[in-house]
Order: sequence, then structure tokens, then C-alpha cells
Amino acid sequence: MYVILTILWSLGACTNRGTESHQLTDNNEEEFIENLLKKMSLNEKLGQLNQRGTSSREKGKLSEELKQSVRNGNIGSMLNVMNHGNLKELQKIAVEESPNGIPLLFARDVIHGFRTIFPIPLGQAASWDANGVKKAAEVAAKEASSQGIRWTFAPMIDISRDPRWGRIAESFGEDPYLTSVLGKASVDGFQGDLTKEYNIAACAKHFAGYGAAEGGRDYNATYIPEALLRQVYLDPFKNAVEAGALTFMAGFNELNGVPVSGNKWLLNDVLREEWNFDGTVVSDWNSVTEMIPHGYARDKKQAAVRAIEAGVDMEMTSDAYAENLEDLLKEKTIAMDKIDEAVRRILRVKYRLGLFDNPYADLKEISSLSKEHLAIAKAVATKSIVLLKNEKEILPLQKNQKIALIGPLADAPLDQLGTWIFDGKKEESITLLNAATTSKSNTIYFEKTLDYSRDKKKINFKKAIRKAKKADIIVLAVGEEAILSGEAHSRSTLKLPGVQEELLQELSELNKPIVLVLMAGRPIIVNHLLDKVDAVVMGWHAGTMAGPAIWDVLTGSTNPSGRLPITWPKATGQVPMYYNNTNTGRPATSESVVLIDDIPVEAWQSSLGNTSHYLEIGRLPQWPFGFGLSYSDVSYSALTVKSKIQWGETVNASVKIRNLGKYPTTETVQLYIQDEVAELVQPVKVLKGFQQIQLGVGEEKTIQFKLPMSDLSYIGPNMKPRVDAGRFKLWLAPNSGESNPYKHFELMEK
Ligand code: BGC
Repeated sequence: MYVILTILWSLGACTNRGTESHQLTDNNEEEFIENLLKKMSLNEKLGQLNQRGTSSREKGKLSEELKQSVRNGNIGSMLNVMNHGNLKELQKIAVEESPNGIPLLFARDVIHGFRTIFPIPLGQAASWDANGVKKAAEVAAKEASSQGIRWTFAPMIDISRDPRWGRIAESFGEDPYLTSVLGKASVDGFQGDLTKEYNIAACAKHFAGYGAAEGGRDYNATYIPEALLRQVYLDPFKNAVEAGALTFMAGFNELNGVPVSGNKWLLNDVLREEWNFDGTVVSDWNSVTEMIPHGYARDKKQAAVRAIEAGVDMEMTSDAYAENLEDLLKEKTIAMDKIDEAVRRILRVKYRLGLFDNPYADLKEISSLSKEHLAIAKAVATKSIVLLKNEKEILPLQKNQKIALIGPLADAPLDQLGTWIFDGKKEESITLLNAATTSKSNTIYFEKTLDYSRDKKKINFKKAIRKAKKADIIVLAVGEEAILSGEAHSRSTLKLPGVQEELLQELSELNKPIVLVLMAGRPIIVNHLLDKVDAVVMGWHAGTMAGPAIWDVLTGSTNPSGRLPITWPKATGQVPMYYNNTNTGRPATSESVVLIDDIPVEAWQSSLGNTSHYLEIGRLPQWPFGFGLSYSDVSYSALTVKSKIQWGETVNASVKIRNLGKYPTTETVQLYIQDEVAELVQPVKVLKGFQQIQLGVGEEKTIQFKLPMSDLSYIGPNMKPRVDAGRFKLWLAPNSGESNPYKHFELMEK
């Protein structure tokens, strides 16, 4: 027996977003748009749907053709105009010379910082700190808007379960709840309440499913059953609508057979009709015309029909709309209503950004980075660092220890910035070497040894060994260059590239303590390296201030508090691997696992237990989602939850945590549940909340969580959220690892 609760996710369209000087309510906004729409010619309407790109490095004079297009009202938005003179000139032409003076909307990818670079989003997610993520977006908005940019293509809230996919670096990881929380923080940081001159439009991307690219190969097909799609992949996007994201981007991928740039069900039925999204949907770069190679359109004309019918309002860079919409209207293949609707949605975003009042940005050169922005970047970077192993308390480093700082990432000012940085400057980066040498607390023997992560020249190994011999401890900074993750940079193995492993091998033969500092856009396979190192620190690509942040963690000026936003695999062959998987009928346990070398010769086919695991590495990941150490252990005790919950009642749970170590620490208490029996099988664990708590030395705190009944819902067989009465498990735990204690509670029938 079960009782169904249909949850009405009332989403209310964003209200009161008019600029102050207009003093407009939503009605006035619509009135303004309708009046304008009436005055616009067909040519001008179609122009609004057109986003033209320029190369981000273009400095030269504007072409007459471009200026004339703006003058004619043939362009709605421009991508990557970074020259102040050009930007001003184009806006002046749009406002003063185009038929209705509709301002251009200037866009750019401002992904994890503009000039001041923050950790890659995956690193930011490891902070589990919404406030930090919000501040990072706010700083990025301030810097970008000072260059005339009013629209960023961020946050990227694609759920990513496969670290082979290079774009996992741009994501907030594998979990829909964490991604939703951080996605909202990011939208808040970029957009604020849209009243400040530096607020810029956010873009929730890539709608949707793009992170499930088959085999982690970028741009590949995605096959996601609807219940999983809604529960996992769409959830952060639904939350982005609620957070007020002004725009969405349709992804490159084909979703269950239909490219999303032509997917009416997704862009119209779900996004607009179910969720009431009234902002703009932009295509991805050429994704409208890419429906031709996908095999979903025979030519640009059909691609234009598919995209406009689906609900793509603005076409990024390709010209299927510009070339065909007018003819399609004449032929009556598409209706004028479709065009008007798309134009309205674009004007709405321009209106909400205050562009009609204030089309011109107050352009200022950024001569150097502001101290305030650098301090925020350092704080976010520090919180992103995850301590993964620390045997015999080898960390923190001791004052006066002689340190051999070795490896290609120890002084890699460009690579530490990570993927998708158009405007960051490597000259402004502070590397680990810079931070270590300026601190003067230790003698540093530095040897980069390899010029970059893929470098295969071992010529400097001897020098590294010589320096390591003089030191008390080796800090080995290895990983991936920035270019090895990001768009179109998928990897077939997650191992360290080049001869970095060999370098570690040679250093380990000295029998000195080794701290492995990883800087990469994804988890790196270290299973076979762990017995050679005493500590492992994941530093991601942590941005401009990566060096000081990592140094502070290594030396204990800051107690590390990062937690993994993804499951860290033991071997590439394990992926995709994620904590919120469903169970098999034969779940493996540590007792049931049989490893390859334990199989007797000529063993009988089914004599070995037949549970779900790999012969080489068993069933567990290297480190689970949510995992991270600090220099102080924390104990969890006295988990309580009422055993019977009445229908509609809130689930109250609490746990005691105590700092057992000698340093103040930050603990991220994570709440997971499992719905034990459901109409569609539910994951073994699902994150439903977390709190970051500061604990002084010896301090104990009781942490309370309140879970409304709607948080017990899942997407049922009719694709609607439902809650079933019955038994649940609840964990309040330091990570998603399997061995934590849990409590049962029973949700009573209605
Ligand atoms: C990427 C998007 C990006 C766009 C504009 C595309 O290649 O997939 O994420 O926003 O380019 O630069």
C-alpha cells in the first residue's frame, strides 16, 4: 500500500525585475515589450534572434558590414566584443541609428572569474560553500560588466558522473542537490536583484543531459530515461528557474534521439509550460546547424524550423535563422506567433537587465587586480582544497623543515588557472613556488623537473633527486595542464600524463616523506601510487591564488575543509561511478568480493559468489563523494530521528559532532536518505542537506536538520513527484561512504 502525494511545484515567474528608473511592475514590463514589438519590422524582429560572434582576440576595426547589420537591426546580441572602442561604437549604432534603438546585449563566457580567476567550478563545488560561490560570481560580474559584458554563459549545472568527460571541470560535480545549491548561489552572484550596475545575466547551461555524454566523449549522444532525467539531470535546472536565471542554453547533445536544440518536449513542454520559464533560450555555438550532422535536419532551413518550433529564441553564431526564417514565414511553414514569442523573451531579458535605460557600460580598463577580489579568490581557493590522505600526520608541514618542491605544476601560472579562462592573465597568478618562497618559513629546494604535465623528457630527474636528498620532505606537485580538461578534452585514462608517475617512483626510492599535490581538472587515478606517498592534497586548478591557498593548507595556516563533489575512482575502468546509484539484486559486500588473484585455477563458474564488483579492484571507489580530511578528526555520535513520522510532518534529525584534534576545524555534516521500497527503485543514498560547522578544539555541537516531507519525494512511474509511506534510512555523516551508521524512520500512511 502506498499513498501518492502529487507535489505542485509552483514556480511563479520572476517578478519585480524592472529597473528602478522605469519604476515598472511586471505589467509595465509586458506593456513596454508589447508597445515595442508593435513598432518593430519583421527584419528587426528577426535581428533580435541573431547572436553574432567575433573572435575574442579581435582588436582591429569593425567591418562596415557588421556596422551596417547593427544599423539595420539585424543583430540582437554580440559575443566576445572585448575592445572598448568597438563595443561603444556598436552600442551607439544600435541605440542611435537602428530603427527602434534596441540595445545590443554583449555576452561572453565568464565561467570561473573574469580577470581574477577562481577555482574551476568543480573545485568551487569542493568547498560546499554557497556563499563563496556566490561571491566568486559577484566578483566575476563586477569585472566583466566593467568591460561591457552583461551576459555570461554560466553557471554550467550539468550533472557529471564521468571524469573522462573534460567538461566535468566546468561542472559542480555529480550530485543534483549540491549542484542546485551552488547553481542558485552562482545565479545570485551574477544577477543579484538586477538593480546594481554590475549585475549581469546568468545562463543555466547546457540544458539538458549534456554531462551524460556516452563514454565521456564530448558532444556524444545521451540516453537518459525520463525519471532519471527529471530526478537527477533536470533538477538543478528547475532550481535555476526558481533562482531567477534569466537565460538558458540548449546543449550540443542529442537526448534520447532528439538533439536538444530541436527538442520541443524539453525546451517548451518542460521548461516553459511546466516550469514557467519566461526568459531567453539561446542555442549553443552552431548547435542549430549541427542538427544537420546529427541527422535531425537535412539542411539549414529544416534546422531553423526544428529550433524555432522547439523554443530556441536566439541562435548563437550560425545563421540558419538569419537565412531562412523570413522565407519560412512567407511559406507559412512557421507562424508569426513563434517569432513574436521569441522576440518578447529576448526583449524581456534586455529589459530586466535595465539595458533600455542604461545601454552604455561605464567602461574601465582593469590595470591590476583589486586586493579585495584577490582576497575573495584566495578564500574560495583555500576552501576548495581537499586533503585526501595524511598518514602519520605528515601534514601540516613544520616550520624550518627543508622542503624539496618538485614537479611541473609547482610553478605553472597558466595551468593553475584551469580551463575556460579568456581574460585571466598568467602574469597575475601566484604559484605554489611563489607562495612557498615568499613565506620564508622553510628552506625550499625547487626543481620543476618537467616543463609541463605531458613532458616526457627525464633529463632533469637527476637534479630533482639531488635536491630531494637535501630535504626533509618532498612536496611533489603534479597533475594535468589546464588544456587537458574542458570542452572537447575528454581522456580515455585518468592517469597522470607523461612521465610524472616515473618521477614519483624515483623520488619514492629515497624513502623520504612525500606529499602529493594534485592540480587537475578531474580526479586522477592514484590507487597504485598511494603506497609511495604519505599525504595527498587535491588542489584542482584553483585560479589566480592557487599557490597561497595550497601553501596555507600545507603549512596548516588553514585547516583543510574541502569535500569531494564527485566520486573518486580507483581505476578508469570503474567509471561512470557515483554514490547515488541504485542497488543491484546482488549487491557486493567486502565479504562477497573475490579478486582476480584469489580465483582458484579452473574454478567452477558460479562458485565465487556472483555479486556486483570488478575482479581487479572490488566494489569501492578510491574516495567516496563528500569525502575530505582535516588536520583534526571529528567524531559523530548520538544520531537521532523520530522513528515514526506522521504524513505531512517534518523529519527532525540530529547528531553530535566533536572536534577530537588539536586545531579548530570546519566540518561538513551531510544528510543522506534512502527510500527503501518505491515504485521505481531509488538510489542507495541521496544527499538531501548539509551544514558547515566550525568547531573549536575539543568543542562538541549538536547539529539539527529539518527535512520537509516533500524532500522524501522521487519521480514516480507517471513522471510526477510522489512520496510513498514506508521505511527510510537516514544518515548524518561526514561523507557518502558506506560504513556510516544510520537510523530508520517510518513515514506513516496518510
Ligand atoms: C560551449 C558553451 C559556450 C559557448 C560560447 C560552446 O562551445 O559549449 O559552453 O558557452 O561555446 O562560447
